[in-house]
Amino acid sequence: MVESVAFEIYRKSPEHVAGLREISSLWRSEPGGFWTFDHVIEALQRPAVKLFFVCAPGENRWQAAVLVDVGPYSADLLYVYVRPELRRSGIGRIAMNNLFTWLANNPGDQPGSAPKEELLLEVRLSNAPAIAMYESFGMTRVCVRKSYYADGEDGLVFKRKVKP
Ligand SMILES: CC(C)(COP(=O)(O)OP(=O)(O)OC[C@H]1O[C@@H](n2cnc3c(N)ncnc32)[C@H](O)[C@@H]1OP(=O)(O)O)[C@@H](O)C(=O)NCCC(=O)NCCS
Repeated sequence: MVESVAFEIYRKSPEHVAGLREISSLWRSEPGGFWTFDHVIEALQRPAVKLFFVCAPGENRWQAAVLVDVGPYSADLLYVYVRPELRRSGIGRIAMNNLFTWLANNPGDQPGSAPKEELLLEVRLSNAPAIAMYESFGMTRVCVRKSYYADGEDGLVFKRKVKP
């Protein structure tokens, strides 16, 4: 069970870059993993893309990371990741809960933006843990995108109101 963690937004400080570099070195071992360190740094060039991390207070080692593309009215979850040895202990739930809270309260950087109404995401049909987590958050299946991923796997689209 997780005791106490912080959910922080990434700033381009040396500590944060080191935290991202370390956790992203693990991502390539995920089935169909796409997001390398370089991909995340490139995505963060766009002001709409935000990176959050979960950390125990006073620790530099990230427990989880969340990458999200924040549009004017809705947001797209690009990636959520929990360190393998910490899974099934509630960290993914903490990260998602904090993300929903942040989206409900932050307008984002785009002109005319307001707090977000909806969160959307795509997930591989084979990713049972992630699908179970999204469904446990009351996210609903919108459609299947045929051969959405580069290796031909279908993607399942989920959505949920930020404030259900
Ligand atoms: C998906 C992921 C983020 C879940 O993180 P986690 O910290 O293990 O999740 P939690 O412990 O907070 O679990 C939250 C809920 O998700 C569901 N869940 C998570 N893992 C599950 C599993 N292996 N089997 C079944 N249900 C699971 C459960 O409903 C769980 O609630 P419960 O523990 O009360 O039953 C994690 O497995 C991960 O990082 N996977 C690799 C990256 C990935 O695939 N990301 C999604 C890409 S879109």
